[in-house]
Amino acid sequence: MRIVCIGGGPAGLTFALLMKKLDPGHDVTVVERNRPYDTFGWGVVFSDATMENLRRWDEETAGAIEASFSHWDDIVLEFKGHAIRSGGHGFVGIGRKRLLNILQARCEALGVELLFDREVRSDDEFPDADLIVASDGINSTIRAKYADTFRPDIVTRPNRFIWLGTKKLYDAFTFVFEKTEHGWFQAHVYKFDAETSTFIVECPEHVWLAHGLDKLDAEASIAFCEHLFARHLQGARLMSNARHLRGSAWLNFQRIRCERWWVDNGRQPVVLMGDAVHTAHFAIGSGTKLALEDAIELARDFKARADAEGEVSPSDLPALLARYQETRAIDVLRLQNAAWNAMEWFEVCGERYCDQLDPEQFMYSLLTRSQRISHENLRLRDAGWLEGYERWFSKRDASAGAGSPRQPEHPRGGQRREERGSPPVPPMFTPFAVRSVTLKNRVVVSPMAQYSAVDGTVGDYHLVHLGARAMGGAALVMCEMTCTSADGRITPGCPGLYTDAQRDAWARIVDWVHDHTDAKIGMQLGHAGAKGATHLGWEGIDQPLTSGGWPLISASPQQYLPGVSDWSRAMTRADMDRVLHDFTACARRAADAGFDWLELHCAHGYLLSSFISPLTNRREDEYGGPLENRLRFPLEVFAAVRAAWPEHLPMSVRISAHDWVEGGITPPEAVAIARAFKAAGADLIDCSSGQVSKEEKPTYGRMWQTPFSDRIRNEAGIATIAVGAISEADHVNSIIAAGRADLCAVARPHLANPAWTLTEAARIGYTAIAWPAPYRSAKPQLEANFQRERAQRTQESSK
Ligand SMILES: Cc1cc2nc3c(=O)[nH]c(=O)nc-3n(C[C@H](O)[C@H](O)[C@H](O)COP(=O)(O)OP(=O)(O)OC[C@H]3O[C@@H](n4cnc5c(N)ncnc54)[C@H](O)[C@@H]3O)c2cc1C
Ligand SMILES: Cc1cc2nc3c(=O)[nH]c(=O)nc-3n(C[C@H](O)[C@H](O)[C@H](O)COP(=O)(O)O)c2cc1C
Repeated sequence: MRIVCIGGGPAGLTFALLMKKLDPGHDVTVVERNRPYDTFGWGVVFSDATMENLRRWDEETAGAIEASFSHWDDIVLEFKGHAIRSGGHGFVGIGRKRLLNILQARCEALGVELLFDREVRSDDEFPDADLIVASDGINSTIRAKYADTFRPDIVTRPNRFIWLGTKKLYDAFTFVFEKTEHGWFQAHVYKFDAETSTFIVECPEHVWLAHGLDKLDAEASIAFCEHLFARHLQGARLMSNARHLRGSAWLNFQRIRCERWWVDNGRQPVVLMGDAVHTAHFAIGSGTKLALEDAIELARDFKARADAEGEVSPSDLPALLARYQETRAIDVLRLQNAAWNAMEWFEVCGERYCDQLDPEQFMYSLLTRSQRISHENLRLRDAGWLEGYERWFSKRDASAGAGSPRQPEHPRGGQRREERGSPPVPPMFTPFAVRSVTLKNRVVVSPMAQYSAVDGTVGDYHLVHLGARAMGGAALVMCEMTCTSADGRITPGCPGLYTDAQRDAWARIVDWVHDHTDAKIGMQLGHAGAKGATHLGWEGIDQPLTSGGWPLISASPQQYLPGVSDWSRAMTRADMDRVLHDFTACARRAADAGFDWLELHCAHGYLLSSFISPLTNRREDEYGGPLENRLRFPLEVFAAVRAAWPEHLPMSVRISAHDWVEGGITPPEAVAIARAFKAAGADLIDCSSGQVSKEEKPTYGRMWQTPFSDRIRNEAGIATIAVGAISEADHVNSIIAAGRADLCAVARPHLANPAWTLTEAARIGYTAIAWPAPYRSAKPQLEANFQRERAQRTQESSK
């Protein structure tokens, strides 16, 4: 078979040599615009898994690469005058030049024809080829030519970066952060041979423009970077070797993915490979790895076909290439997603983390930036560093109040304090103080409607349900949405606080929780608005009542389920006054009932949420239009409730931080919403999302709403509650430790297991947690069972 690779980068060269090795009868040519052994770029990094993969296919190449590797294990952060080091991260790096030289030499040895110094303008130049591989890099001419078929999705990212090198040698993958009068710059630095390190400098576009870097040529840009990082370079120079770049040497990363990876041009198939078909941001340094793995996969597909059929003929190629795309697309997507998170972290860190977080927590946030590395992964990598961090975290918490922006000066810890020599307290089990309330840990039982009240009055069901969860180890048990009037209920089974009898029924539960547990109990007040008068959850959620319903009100007339729900009518000012009065009266009753915490429900499309979202608020008066107007009524309610609720007790506000619908609330607006509630006196924002419109298209996944909490906490400077698919202690520890939230609300796992927190503590081996006295005999048994499981897992993984 005659194969032509357009572009002699890692993808084209590796595929060429593997195919020639597979069958010396193949006629394989690589056409490259550069001269032989002439390339640019600094070090590239790989994982051990990629090398293992390559070794299976070509021992010689893998051996030669390995002989030239620089290994390093540690990550170092140089930030605000601190240098923090953590180990166990295991990278290998090699100079791009060296890598290409090895691949070129191996191609030559195997008999691949290498044509250098030849610019390919079109695949038409190779009419005799059976297969053309377009391995022509990020700016692929071939991808552009067949864009209608490949349908590339190219996203240009906002940060600017410049690839530089230095002769200063770094013994760890080093991240350096420097602040200027216009903002933060960061450098990603790693050694890749005996005398050189890669030094990539990156900053947001606005910082780059503010420094006039758009007007500087490569030389002046280098001088700027040398000056900026002088403290770290200690006299070493920075160098560029990107002679191909004219004008500014600063680039924007382009994330590329293609819907289709190959095309039949009428003569032969043309297949994309490497950067031509996908790119991965250097934040996790995997572009070369992906290129090599593409080449290996396509070679593997050829071999599998040849093994099965004796040989591969041109007619086999369409099926073979389809399989190549199918297999690779999954791995590539996974890696691109991780790279995306890491890339975004570097794009926002200047605004969101650099000024907000202490160096220790900043390091934790940096290490977990791709969100693929959790608290327990960090323990596996460097247990000593993690323990030190846990001690730092709980000590800071004890002395400065949990690190949230609104901590009182002297929080009273409900948890047993760490003693010298005792194991550190995991972040999940550190106390959290707000106003006069100290939560013993960071776990909240998220509010969950139970549809089991009678005429709005809670009873034995709620006593058992909430009582069990209060005994289960969570610090705060939130009641379900409790409605401010009979016509503010979601269903006839929803509870209220609109009568004194309802207050007394709640007081019985609150007293029980206080008398028998050390958990706090919170009230969530809400009005269902247009989502009211529906069936009990399990009898048809959101379906309108067929009888016994009531008229609905909301910001503007709407049907929550188009064509199905009852229409709501727009509230008049008189309606607002009544609702305001109801909320205030309920807040007083909540205080009288003895609740420790009050949450105002402004999420999920209910009444207050219907004012905030532009999807449901179409008013033309001072309560509609810009966000400031849409927030007016919810803020009026907040202010009235805050005034009625005791000063010394905390208030949180639950919001939908993302409507997941075009034209709806987005995370940047959620930050503005949080700022408005913060200014009004809210202590925390409970960051939920969605349920505002049936058009929503949420992206689910583990901890899927935590990014909203992270953004709100660190941009609006208010403590937050993260919620949504937080289902393991490892999740809670990772979120709290990284400063992505102050509390984690856990809903469905608490339906499955009221003692979720106690169970998770035992699962991770944290034994310094108090169990309810009558349950204590179960504690050592559960802990021993989990201990055995952990030992077994360790034994299995070390086999
Ligand atoms: C200049 C450069 C420097 C880099 N430096 C680093 C680094 O230091 N660290 C890191 O981790 N990653 C680096 N990367 C990214 C990483 O190397 C890529 O993800 C990886 O190289 C992808 O391999 P590839 O073979 O798909 O594409 P490339 O390595 O881009 O190779 C494509 C090749 O095709 C050639 N070519 C393109 N068009 C034509 C044409 N029309 N005719 C003939 N030849 C053509 C190019 O000259 C190039 O040699 C760099 C990329 C580039 C282009
Ligand atoms: C049965 C059930 C009832 C819920 N009722 C409420 C509620 O009354 N108020 C509220 O704000 N959220 C309510 N939610 C949403 C949860 O509080 C939580 O935000 C959501 O379930 C995501 O968390 P999870 O992934 O841990 O379940 C409810 C969720 C469930 C499963």
